[in-house]
Amino acid sequence: MLVREVCQTYAREVEKLGYKLLELISLSLGLPSNRLNGYFEDHTTMMRLNHYPPCPCPELALGVGRHKDAGALTIVAQDDVGGLQVRRKSDEVWVPVKPTPNALVINVGDTIQVWSNEAYESVEHRVVVNSERERFSIPVFFFPSHYVMVKPLEELVNEGNPPKYKPYNFGKFFVARNRSDYKKLEVQNIQISYFKII
Ligand code: OGA
Ligand code: NI
Repeated sequence: MLVREVCQTYAREVEKLGYKLLELISLSLGLPSNRLNGYFEDHTTMMRLNHYPPCPCPELALGVGRHKDAGALTIVAQDDVGGLQVRRKSDEVWVPVKPTPNALVINVGDTIQVWSNEAYESVEHRVVVNSERERFSIPVFFFPSHYVMVKPLEELVNEGNPPKYKPYNFGKFFVARNRSDYKKLEVQNIQISYFKII
């Protein structure tokens, strides 16, 4: 099988899992299981094949700097090397996500934080490198259609729980996020907090 075919087959399977997870998240919010599907009609999901070579000075470098994923969900396959870390909100400590054989890591992204009006929170994460071993990971970023206006779902907001975000266009947000991600470390990436209603 060509590498391309293997990737396509994998991506299609992960896509099914993505929809399943969206259904479960909808149900957990008290919504019909297909509530979020309409936002994915022309979804812009992508898969990345990451290779992190060994680094002689891992304390001086990061594989991926701290960030939050902009989309709805990220489904990550990783090998047994480890390096992915999530930031614990209570004490801001970076906690390693230990590789579990044959398991996938699911990240909640910014879009679900906004749709759920913060019932779910997007996780801040980064990747540290290893001095001896190279690492491979395959994240699939489950992204809505580029034209979707992301905002707290109407069914979840009311007088007691008003919307915490102004609507924003997913495609524009994503492009702005990517542009700033490749700039200098001091540059603030665009974040959903920019659309926050205070
Ligand atoms: C990313 C990411 C994690 C990993 O590419 O956004 O967070 O384990 N990757 O490679
Ligand atoms: Ni990420």
